[in-house]
Amino acid sequence: RQQLKTHFLGQKMQVFPTIPSTNVFAKEEAQQKPENGKVYLAEEQTLGRGRLGRVWSSPKGKTIALSMVLTPEIPPMEASKLTQIVAAAFVEATKNIADVQIKWPNDIVINGKKLCGILTEISAELTQIHYVVIGIGINTNLSFEEMPPDIQEKATSLLQVLGKEIDPNHLIASFLTTFEKYYAAFIATGNYQPTLQICRQHSAVIGKEIYVIQQDSKRLAKAVDIDEKGQLLVQFENEKKTTPIFAGEVSIRGT
Ligand code: BTN
Repeated sequence: RQQLKTHFLGQKMQVFPTIPSTNVFAKEEAQQKPENGKVYLAEEQTLGRGRLGRVWSSPKGKTIALSMVLTPEIPPMEASKLTQIVAAAFVEATKNIADVQIKWPNDIVINGKKLCGILTEISAELTQIHYVVIGIGINTNLSFEEMPPDIQEKATSLLQVLGKEIDPNHLIASFLTTFEKYYAAFIATGNYQPTLQICRQHSAVIGKEIYVIQQDSKRLAKAVDIDEKGQLLVQFENEKKTTPIFAGEVSIRGT
């Protein structure tokens, strides 16, 4: 906490030795009274949640499980940009320790293996956001053996990549400081360019063949670029035109 150089983000922070899920807890509190910038941290989650109803494993002291509550005055349609800002801030915060890439829209990977997942949950009406809870799970000091067997081949950790343990507090502080900087600039001026640049430069999907999974269909496509709205531009098989894909609607799988 002393390392935190933010203006508002994480100035209110609640730390749990163990909790079912920081996102669920943050949403319950925000439902009563959303506190912009409040951060929830857990040393362990017993019912960590991933996207699409999946489980997220956060064994004690081995991962970072963090949720932030934000009350941005932006159209609900733009909320997916916040996820991109988180991803960009993570890349920036880790640039001196590892070469990470963004698997649009929600995952951070190293050599194709998942290091960090982002779960953005929004409470909104048609034109107004009540609050956003953004959950971030980072595999910090998790060894190969400590990972659930079914994800061992798909996931990695900073410990596995660097061969040594990292100080989670240092990473949390540097992530929150960086995120606040991009977030505040985006909210004040709508400036999304720094994020977009990082997302393009560190993309794990641009230029690659991917599967776009939308409702019932699964189509092969080539990822071409990320546009000004944060949408992924893809070229479906046998098509010349590019199609923008909105983050909320798809999940991208490796080929
Ligand atoms: C995903 O990749 O599916 C998203 C994973 C998000 C995990 C984090 S850990 C902190 C927060 N609390 C949760 O229950 N989930 C998110």
